[in-house]
Amino acid sequence: MRDILPPESGRWRRFTDVFADVVERAGYGQLITPLLEDLGVFTRIGDATDVVTKEMYDFVDKGERHIALRPEMTASVCRAFAEHRPTTPWKVFYSGSNFRYEKPQRGRYRQFDQVGVEVLGADDPNLDVEVIALAWEFYRALGLRQVTLLVNSLGEPDDRARYVEALREHFVAAGDELSEQSRATLERNPLRVLDSKRDGDRTHIEAAPQIAEFHSDDAASHFAAVLAGLRALDIPFTIEPKLVRGLDYYRRTIFEFQGGTLDSAQNALGGGGRYDGLVEAIGGPATPGVGFALGVDRTLLACDDESVFAADPVVLDAFVVDVTGGLEAVALTAELRAAGFAVDRGYDNRSMKAQMKLANRSAARFALIIGDDELAAGTVVVKPMHGDGEQVAIARSDISSHLASHPPQN
Ligand code: HAM
Repeated sequence: MRDILPPESGRWRRFTDVFADVVERAGYGQLITPLLEDLGVFTRIGDATDVVTKEMYDFVDKGERHIALRPEMTASVCRAFAEHRPTTPWKVFYSGSNFRYEKPQRGRYRQFDQVGVEVLGADDPNLDVEVIALAWEFYRALGLRQVTLLVNSLGEPDDRARYVEALREHFVAAGDELSEQSRATLERNPLRVLDSKRDGDRTHIEAAPQIAEFHSDDAASHFAAVLAGLRALDIPFTIEPKLVRGLDYYRRTIFEFQGGTLDSAQNALGGGGRYDGLVEAIGGPATPGVGFALGVDRTLLACDDESVFAADPVVLDAFVVDVTGGLEAVALTAELRAAGFAVDRGYDNRSMKAQMKLANRSAARFALIIGDDELAAGTVVVKPMHGDGEQVAIARSDISSHLASHPPQN
């Protein structure tokens, strides 16, 4: 778990602002859910996933309730839907922290943030296209250029079940040639064997049956409609038949966004898909759902690697240096802040030299200096801190208009 300090933290806030702007313009409203839920909400994600079986921060609270810190937000959205029964389609977005007890490394943390959207109550393939397009537009808004989109369809639950059986038979036949870890994965979830990057497993993975052979007509035509929509929007994608995603609730469309620069284990910047049975599993009415979540931590690392969406410290308009005791600075900073300027000041009545050093470090555009002479004359010395402008003494009452008539040069 990490601390995010300024100015990096300002970039995090801008990140969610940009995301909110993109999705609010598409009719999504923000949903805020608790960080904690009843454990049962998350076990519905599927007991064959590490997220549920190994990585959950769960505990019994003082009221003997077994609860867990959320490892993701889709299950919470479905729980909220089942509880409030809003009219459909229900289009929501969210942003916030999630918790998974994973092995930390660059791009993988035990507390990490996501932004995402979910739409409940419509199974139109055009909605799958809409959510993918929103993620795509958001990456463009950040300036990321090296993101690739992988798509696949897991078919209907029956298709998926037949596929899982075929995979099980295929990998069981590989016997000891399969790595020990993959043999253990096979016991729990044959689909996840497809994720193995181990050398010995590769040939068996390449020869494995493909999901498309098991698609029912409905699943195949739903998927074809999604692909047609993506083509109509000129969103480049790759069909990845081995894409399975880490959570068990998916059916039909699944997708993942991969970055071009992070280590392969952490290069999934975001992902999502359809989870038409999840609301029902949580106790609500049968309701289709589709959405995605993007990892904030990882996406910002990708932004660093591509030198886009940099952290921008706030540029101060002025830094007030008051060596007459500090009361003048109290009044002047308050007045200028109220007028809309970004203004900081020195404290503790430190020496002129010490306060000018702070003014320099602050990178403010102007130092506003008040000494005994200025105090007596009702003036302030305005010293430009960048470029070669001359310092001038001006009437205290003219400072605002002086700052306004010298806007920042970009
Ligand atoms: P997920 O693939 O588990 O999907 O997570 C989505 C994104 O969250 C990942 O692509 C990654 O960027 C980020 N992420 C996950 N775990 C970590 C971690 N330990 N450290 C840093 N970043 C991480 C879901 O969570 C689904 N709820 C997505 C979804 C929404 N499906 C449908 N709707």
